[in-house]
Amino acid sequence: MDYYTLGNTGLKVSRLALGTMTFGDDWGWGADEASARQLFDTYLAAGGNFFDTADLYTNGNSERMLGQFVRETKSRDRVVLATKFSYSAEPGNPNAGGNGRKNILRAVEGSLQRLGTDYIDLYLLHTWDQVTPAAEVMHTLDTLVRSGKVRYVGLSDVPAWYAAQAQTLAQERHLEPISTLQLEYSLAERSIEFEYTALAKHLGTSIMVWSPLASGLLSGKYKPSQNGGAGSGRLSTVADSGNPAFDKFTEKNWAVVAELEQVAQALGRSMAQVAVNWVVNRPGVAAVLVGATKLHQLEDNLGALEFEIPPELQQRLDRVSRPAIHFPYTFFEPGLQGMITGGATVGDKPASYHSQVRVEGEGAGVE
Ligand SMILES: NC(=O)c1ccc[n+]([C@@H]2O[C@H](COP(=O)([O-])OP(=O)(O)OC[C@H]3O[C@@H](n4cnc5c(N)ncnc54)[C@H](OP(=O)(O)O)[C@@H]3O)[C@@H](O)[C@H]2O)c1
Repeated sequence: MDYYTLGNTGLKVSRLALGTMTFGDDWGWGADEASARQLFDTYLAAGGNFFDTADLYTNGNSERMLGQFVRETKSRDRVVLATKFSYSAEPGNPNAGGNGRKNILRAVEGSLQRLGTDYIDLYLLHTWDQVTPAAEVMHTLDTLVRSGKVRYVGLSDVPAWYAAQAQTLAQERHLEPISTLQLEYSLAERSIEFEYTALAKHLGTSIMVWSPLASGLLSGKYKPSQNGGAGSGRLSTVADSGNPAFDKFTEKNWAVVAELEQVAQALGRSMAQVAVNWVVNRPGVAAVLVGATKLHQLEDNLGALEFEIPPELQQRLDRVSRPAIHFPYTFFEPGLQGMITGGATVGDKPASYHSQVRVEGEGAGVE
């Protein structure tokens, strides 16, 4: 297992993290406790150290199981535990959810208790609530780091402008910065490339990918049908949920699945391995959250770093999955940029340039 540092921090995390949204069958598509324990043990034995959960998942059972497994294996010092707040814990009470200070301070106590630990390694805002100022979130998270209840902080599922504002505030006010942005990214969902990849690079943070298989679609087990798609698994179970994250049966995605199947065959690898390999090697990505309900799925996914996708096969995957480009990004394509440079080529600086001339502390950043 390879380790990367998470953003601009000293925290070392495995490039493949284990998502535990499937720990518990409370939502109708997860794994029972015995199967979840097998997934936990297998991942740990493979050298993995990075676990992701949320207070929302399986009504708190994901956090409870994860905490129990960590205690039973006496692995608290070895593992990096990430959890999240934002979703409501009490119907009708607007302050028992969202990202205001009152809810964050309530939610953290619940997560610590369910995880059975006195600190969380990475505490993430789960989803933008559209009302709480970024300064309130960052000051509250900073307080938690200073209190010792949290080690590092991050944001998930927020607009790029909000993440940029939060990170800039943190830097200017010497608050704990955002070490990672947890975002959906896969061959079936590449929207984050327009803003977040550059954001991670320029604002000193990283990307932690969720749903690298588009909830299982990219494993190849679903086929197009008259109802959109057919196959057994999460996407069939939740077809009518109305959750946009599960809306994967589109013409574009079927084309991606067909090309991925051919590329995987050419490589002699499973489609899931190729899909995870593709996303784990994208710019700005520090870690990819693999999810599974069955042991053979996790074993398959853990082999995703063992090979390289050669450039010609990589290009086929890039081409078929390329997202449609909208304004203002149309203006950043080579044609219009040529009108700015007068046709001269202005390429990226070579890696050696960055490593040799970067001068710390003189305000002379060269990136
Ligand atoms: N921040 C957020 O908003 C957010 C949102 C979603 C997820 N997450 C995090 O990201 C983690 C991963 O997300 P995800 O579960 O959606 O990831 P995913 O990799 O897109 O989907 C995982 C599902 O795909 C199927 N699968 C996995 N490996 C397979 C294989 N090798 N062959 C065939 N099928 C396979 C299984 O579903 P079946 O049971 O159907 O077989 C598995 O539960 C979650 O556990 C959670 O920690 C975060």
